[in-house]
Amino acid sequence: MIEIAVLPGDGIGPEVTDEAVRVLDWFAARRGLPLRMTRLLFGTAAWQAEGTTMPDATWAAIEAADALLFGATDSLAQQHIPAEERRKGALLRMRKALDVFANLRPIRAWPALAEASPFKPRTIAGADLVFVRELTAGVYFGTPRGIETQPDGSRRGVNTHSYTEAEIARVARFAFALARQRRNRVTSVDKANVMEAGRLWRDVVSEVHAAEFADVALEHMLADNCALQLGRAPARFDVIVTDNLFGDLLSDCAGAINGSLGMLPSAALSAPGPDGRRRALYEPIHGSAPDIAGKGVANPLGAILSAALLLRWTAGAPAEADRLEAAVEAALAAGARTADIALPGEAVLGTRAMTDAVIAALEASL
Ligand code: IPM
Ligand code: MN
Repeated sequence: MIEIAVLPGDGIGPEVTDEAVRVLDWFAARRGLPLRMTRLLFGTAAWQAEGTTMPDATWAAIEAADALLFGATDSLAQQHIPAEERRKGALLRMRKALDVFANLRPIRAWPALAEASPFKPRTIAGADLVFVRELTAGVYFGTPRGIETQPDGSRRGVNTHSYTEAEIARVARFAFALARQRRNRVTSVDKANVMEAGRLWRDVVSEVHAAEFADVALEHMLADNCALQLGRAPARFDVIVTDNLFGDLLSDCAGAINGSLGMLPSAALSAPGPDGRRRALYEPIHGSAPDIAGKGVANPLGAILSAALLLRWTAGAPAEADRLEAAVEAALAAGARTADIALPGEAVLGTRAMTDAVIAALEASL
């Protein structure tokens, strides 16, 4: 049995996660996949019910699970929770504890959404890229960090952008191996012109390439240029490997291709353990969207496409993952739209009805 810990979180997290679970239930019932989803108390809801954002039982279930399906957290809603408690349930802590260093963020131009994109259809046609964002090091975690008071009484904020050779090499290996399953092309993104950690990034990626992956095409690109090229010619990219902060920024840039972050899934994976299994955290890239929470209008496709990544990377069912992605494509092609991806005047579906359209397409695929 594949045990999936479900952490709905805040805002629209529960609404969209419910729909991803409904889709996974379909695969269990109709395709015989041995998936068991367990909803866990976590974050703000756990704080309200039990006075902690991460109950011990939740953490134990996370540790035991084969994968996590995560919704969203709302840091503003948690402002009243003491900092120490907030950190316990924090996403960054979970990423670090599970050591899920390889963050896959696939982005493609869905043909059915070409008109909803802020870009010209010919600019984005054929775009199909995946970020491999390093997720457990870099400036997000580097020390020293903090806000200190200087001798003159004014404050200074400090963070440290740091990468070890091992941290770079493992994410580079992941990216090259992934490229071999795709179009065999890696773009490594850094600021080697300014930062020492960026220079080491470039050197180590080149070393791993020469020693183990010389068959894969590799180019190095500066992060500012990458931001430009993502808007100018996104179809030129296959796999983009980059650090934690650049990966955060650039994946949002590329998210504009579809006109909405609501379409984007992600998977965060660890190295395989002794039993061969990877820890995995699946989540839509979008946040908790408190302005539309509870209204049943959020786009569930980012969460549903995250479930497709789960089928591919945790359930070992790539053909079923393809089936789900094709069902999303079919639903979009048939005109299913949530508000974030609709053109003015187009009929709009709610969260649940969008999922119904995907499930109808899944049924039609049998
Ligand atoms: C993301 C988010 C997170 C990040 C935040 C919520 C900490 O923006 O997953 O892209 O910066 O990594
Ligand atoms: Mn982000």
